Amino acid sequence: MLTFVATISVFILSAVQGFPSGPPSTACSDLFPTGHAVNAQTGLSGFAITTNQATYTPGGTVTVNLLGVGNAFDGVMIQARRATTNCSSGINSVPVGTFTIPAGDTFLQLMSCGGVVNNAVAQKAKIVVTSKTVTWTAPTTSVGQIYFRGTFIKNTKTFWTNVASSIVKPLGDATAALPVCAVRTVL
Ligand SMILES: *[C@@H]1O[C@H](CO)[C@@H](O)[C@H](O)[C@H]1NC(C)=O
Repeated sequence: MLTFVATISVFILSAVQGFPSGPPSTACSDLFPTGHAVNAQTGLSGFAITTNQATYTPGGTVTVNLLGVGNAFDGVMIQARRATTNCSSGINSVPVGTFTIPAGDTFLQLMSCGGVVNNAVAQKAKIVVTSKTVTWTAPTTSVGQIYFRGTFIKNTKTFWTNVASSIVKPLGDATAALPVCAVRTVL
């Protein structure tokens, strides 16, 4: 009986507060925090993902900044995705590369989506922050143009799923930047 009550309490807390200790693995595919039980905001977010370079080399690293622009966040989840002109092709739907986070960071944790170790970054505690920097390591073979995709939680009921960086191209790619695929905004 006690176990049952405890389980129900955890469930209710999760439903009300979302996941202060980090997103569930079900958020891996579309980075949508369904536990928050509301739609995403669709206006300008006041959050940005920037990179220190516009190109990458296979196995090389890119510094990725998660920024509140006059804004703060208490939850976040990011992945790198391949850019494509065909958003229904599936090319865009799996994370690529892996991340590292600053040692001892009290807010961020690495996540493993689809069985690939450290291919996503999310929060692990509910702390209000305005910027964080992580490092992305590209796959050892080129995966074409990529971008960083993020969900930023301002508070439980106010979050944006449509935050994307500019395109990062493989070094030497002189073709035009491919589009970023639309993301889920509805519960
Ligand atoms: C996009 O990809 C899907 C799934 O592979 C395919 O059925 C469709 O024909 C593609 N569309 C274009 C315009 O290439």
